[in-house]
Amino acid sequence: MSDQKSKILIFGSSGYLGKYLIKASISMGNPTYAYLRPRTDPSKLQLLKHFQSMGVTIYQGELDEHEKLVSAVKEVDIVVSALAVPQHLDQIKIIHAMKEAGNIKRFIPSEFGNEVDREKGAALPPFQMIIENKKRIRRATEEAGIPFTYVCANSLAAYFVNYLLYPHHHNSHQLTVYGTGEPKAVFNYEEDVAMYTLKAAVDPRAANQVIICRPPKNIISQLELISSWEEKTGRNIQTNHFPDHQLITLSQSLPFPDNVPMAILHNIFVMGSQMSYELTNDDLEASNLYPDYNYTSIHDFLNRCLVDPPNSKFAAFA
Ligand SMILES: NC(=O)c1ccc[n+]([C@@H]2O[C@H](COP(=O)([O-])OP(=O)(O)OC[C@H]3O[C@@H](n4cnc5c(N)ncnc54)[C@H](OP(=O)(O)O)[C@@H]3O)[C@@H](O)[C@H]2O)c1
Repeated sequence: MSDQKSKILIFGSSGYLGKYLIKASISMGNPTYAYLRPRTDPSKLQLLKHFQSMGVTIYQGELDEHEKLVSAVKEVDIVVSALAVPQHLDQIKIIHAMKEAGNIKRFIPSEFGNEVDREKGAALPPFQMIIENKKRIRRATEEAGIPFTYVCANSLAAYFVNYLLYPHHHNSHQLTVYGTGEPKAVFNYEEDVAMYTLKAAVDPRAANQVIICRPPKNIISQLELISSWEEKTGRNIQTNHFPDHQLITLSQSLPFPDNVPMAILHNIFVMGSQMSYELTNDDLEASNLYPDYNYTSIHDFLNRCLVDPPNSKFAAFA
């Protein structure tokens, strides 16, 4: 497989993470394709034009349009999906199309979270349901015999820093800590996750493997994150503890999809799921695999937030 010339088709490219994937693919010189459902709202049309100006080839179609899917897939070497959570199971349709087309050298399904096959203990039901769907897509990919790479991004940094630290609120002196604040999590900047994904997509070492993004400088607890933010902003921040039992109760009592973030916060910050398993020498940890790639440490990311707080949308999980 030629490193530079692989043709990459991205599903979900108009979404939050998808835009980073498009940028990463183009920056690596890959001929880049996007399969998008036809949309008429001005912001989507503007994005489409932007993609075209970047050199992205657009296919317009629904996920239900099998023939369109097959012909798009036939044009490329690699398929990356960043479809939204409610569309995870729709990826079966992409798998069927790839199987029929028979030419796909690598599929990266929409995951970009925890290592669903390895983390210890079940999550609360609203999040466990998402985890189970990711596992279903893994098994369907394997059964179809399509070469894959699964990317475990852990927590996307801009996404979670926005939620935990409110970096836009320049005078905020109060923050919420979920649980004790002590379990460690992994915060990876979206741009780095996209670059690691596209590097892995064309890397023979990553064929039929899981890539885990756990760079040493990005492992941090909520309390450490807040104390680093306190230091950087020069503010004295008061913390309000949100007890773990309240996350459990709300995950049961809130309607869907509001119950999902409660279950995710519990999984990451109470159960400490992202650090709940040891990496072995056989694991492909992203910063080990690509030591020349200069990832953004969580501390550098916070420095950046001081001058340019990121935009995010936590609700996109649901
Ligand atoms: N670990 C983390 O911290 C973290 C954080 C966020 C996301 N994620 C993961 O990243 C992945 C992408 O999430 P995201 O937040 O980037 O998603 P998103 O912004 O909500 O949407 C992604 C894409 O899904 C498409 N889509 C939605 N409904 C569709 C439909 N009915 N038919 C076809 N396409 C449809 C959207 O297309 P339109 O533009 O046409 O609507 C968009 O391109 C997910 O697997 C999610 O779990 C992880």
